[in-house]
Amino acid sequence: MLPEELIARAALAQEYAYAPYSSYRVGAALLTGSGRMYLGANVENAVYPLTMCAERVAVFKAISEGEMEFEALAVVTSNGGSPCGACRQVLREFAPDLPIYIADAEGNYRETSVAELLPDSFGPEFLK
Ligand code: THU
Repeated sequence: MLPEELIARAALAQEYAYAPYSSYRVGAALLTGSGRMYLGANVENAVYPLTMCAERVAVFKAISEGEMEFEALAVVTSNGGSPCGACRQVLREFAPDLPIYIADAEGNYRETSVAELLPDSFGPEFLK
């Protein structure tokens, strides 16, 4: 699948963002090994810390439906914002080398990876 296709799906997911407090709408699309795609949007709450990021919504949807292999992630925001630290760590648990496409509203994007965004990270292998 082309990065542009994944980004287009993330842009659709962004439509469902619930972001009345920050007005910062985030959409994510996670492609899994089975070829399925899991979408996520940020979901804010009047109790601000309960907010959940778009990326983690997508990951948790996939994992909770039995998908453990991730191929690529696209994230769309108005201005090409990068995944937060918490999302980087959650992604790292399942896909340390996952390619990530970070896009803005115009469709401009850059490619990075979990390994690049979270170097020298802690993961499951330290707990064996
Ligand atoms: N947000 C995400 O959805 N993903 C990120 O990686 C960064 C931040 C959301 C959380 C909150 O709803 C809004 O963006 C502003 O922080």
